[in-house]
Amino acid sequence: MKFSTKAIHIGQKPDKETGAVIPPIYMTSTYAQEAPNTHKGYDYTRAGNPNFTNLEATLAALEQGKVATVFSSGIGATTAIVSSLGKDDKVVIANDLYGGTYRLFSRVFKQFGIDFSTVDTQDLEAVELKLKTNPKLLFLESPTNPLLRISDIEAITTMAKKYNVLTVVDNTFATPYFQNPLNLGADFVMHSTTKYIGGHSDVVGGVVVTNHEEWKEKLDFARMAIGLNPSPFDNWLTTKGLKTMGIRMERHFTNATKVAEYFDNHPKVKKVYYPGLPSHPNYEIAQKQMSGYSGIVSVEFNLSLEESMKLVSSFKLFTLAESLGGVESLVDHPASMTHASIPKEEREKNGLSDGLIRFSVGIEDIEDLIEDLDTVLKKY
Ligand SMILES: Cc1ncc(COP(=O)(O)O)c(C=O)c1O
Repeated sequence: MKFSTKAIHIGQKPDKETGAVIPPIYMTSTYAQEAPNTHKGYDYTRAGNPNFTNLEATLAALEQGKVATVFSSGIGATTAIVSSLGKDDKVVIANDLYGGTYRLFSRVFKQFGIDFSTVDTQDLEAVELKLKTNPKLLFLESPTNPLLRISDIEAITTMAKKYNVLTVVDNTFATPYFQNPLNLGADFVMHSTTKYIGGHSDVVGGVVVTNHEEWKEKLDFARMAIGLNPSPFDNWLTTKGLKTMGIRMERHFTNATKVAEYFDNHPKVKKVYYPGLPSHPNYEIAQKQMSGYSGIVSVEFNLSLEESMKLVSSFKLFTLAESLGGVESLVDHPASMTHASIPKEEREKNGLSDGLIRFSVGIEDIEDLIEDLDTVLKKY
């Protein structure tokens, strides 16, 4: 079965009682029991809910994994994985991660004794040196937020297996439509389902998918014990969003390619970051492990910081907002918004300049999007 058929049918059987084609929203905190602990598989929604089960079946199928657990957010999904570790356990994280993930490691897990360090996951020699230090986990994003760097997932997971290190790939930007890290050897895939999976900027959510079936119990336990559960309604909305994911992603991809090409030929642009451009430094790896490049384009302009700041609030169709991956186009200034939690020095060391602007290209008509960009850029 292919992607869109799975997205529409798996985990979404008509309701047995009523025949309703769309499974209902199980907006309940608790469940009737026949006798103590005799129930139909659910006892309390922090521990489980039919809307979680349905979405988990769909997402496991789309990521081509065996099991999945849904969470209240992408950050919740990462928390669940890391909560299985203990004091003084080492974790290696990529040096170019979403700011909130970095903050979770540097300001929360560190307090609980997780020993984390960063590595450039594009540098395979540096990765190997880190793997030799006996970490439990290696966590990376590919493509990264916001610089769209690509790491060679298969080369890294092959090396990690040699050193018995579990690998987690944040696949939020690529989506299961364009990349399946489990097939490239990753132990876990996590997503902020807030982004392309939900696709409509109306829900915050997360998921972990894995082929290690024994981890299902651990991930469900973490959700229940820490309180990382989503709302049934949010899961129902995410399920609804997922059904059109295939056609949405095709459109995000073609629109973003045109936006990247437009910027690439623009005199006011210093640098365009988009993995689908042959000038992207990781173009070949991207071609090897991805079948498309989603809708994020990051750009450095030949403008002062002050002008760039003015630029981001000048568009009509690109709304200045955090987040990405919804049907509507958004624009973000990472250094002051999504990545402000990373210290400036650390940001700059990793190439994230104060002038970088991230565009989440939506699925509107491309002519209107280009016109919006062009009208604003003509003023500079
Ligand atoms: C790549 C990536 N991973 C994880 C997250 C965190 O997800 P959430 O905001 O759903 O907690 C984000 C949020 O922007 C992200 O962009």
